[in-house]
Amino acid sequence: MTYLDKIKESSDFLISKGITNPEIAVVLGTGLGKFLDYLKIEQTIDYADIPNFPVSTVEFHKGKLLFGTIGTKKVIAMQGRFHLYEGYSLQQVTFPIRVLHKLGIKHLLLSNAAGGINKNFKKGDLILIDDHINLQGSSPISGLNSFDYGGIFPDMSAPYDKNINSNLTDEATKLNINLKKGVYASVFGPQLETRAEYRYLGIIGADMVGMSTTPEVIVANQLQLPCAAISVITDECDPDNLQKVNIEEIIAIAGKSDEKLSKLFFETIQKL
Ligand code: HPA
Repeated sequence: MTYLDKIKESSDFLISKGITNPEIAVVLGTGLGKFLDYLKIEQTIDYADIPNFPVSTVEFHKGKLLFGTIGTKKVIAMQGRFHLYEGYSLQQVTFPIRVLHKLGIKHLLLSNAAGGINKNFKKGDLILIDDHINLQGSSPISGLNSFDYGGIFPDMSAPYDKNINSNLTDEATKLNINLKKGVYASVFGPQLETRAEYRYLGIIGADMVGMSTTPEVIVANQLQLPCAAISVITDECDPDNLQKVNIEEIIAIAGKSDEKLSKLFFETIQKL
């Protein structure tokens, strides 16, 4: 079966489960799940039950697709995503995005936990991703640079959608959330960065660093699917005063900002 056939098979399966005409999808990053409290859930499907879906290997990523409504909007929430560091290829990592697009979503919202490089960013801050630097060493559209997959040599001059971003910014203001802006660098992981690597990331223009999101955004752009992304800062990466961090701490800090981010997505979705 070709990759294209697999996308169709997965999408047909989800349609057969009643997931029809979704308008928006939200990908929930590490430690972020409260958004589900805002979703009137109609259907829950384990990734393991969806044909061709990779199975998430990381224990804290629950691996479920949820379908429901927010106001009048039909929404898919992806609880858990796939990462390069789990041993998947970038084509596997971005497979769900292609399936969501095939299902007909019109907007994609992404979230992640990230290390703060910019010294003005503090633990728990929400940062609107304004641009990115792909340091993962490959492209999710390698071998798929064709019109069958959405287009060739996708333009990356504005990978994050202006309209969604302005809605997120407006809603943040109304909610009294100080939504900052920054450039996200994606690395392979799973190890965190050395002091020299954090210093390097700052020098090349990154404001935060994480291990996801850019492959999904690249694919969304190839598909001309408007997308936006928000990082939760979970650790402050000052190379001159670097503290030890562990994943439990990162998850706990993401959890503290979960409510704020979920409310922001909830309000924004109703405006899209
Ligand atoms: N580096 C990479 N990924 C991350 C970090 C970090 O410091 N924090 C959360 N995800």
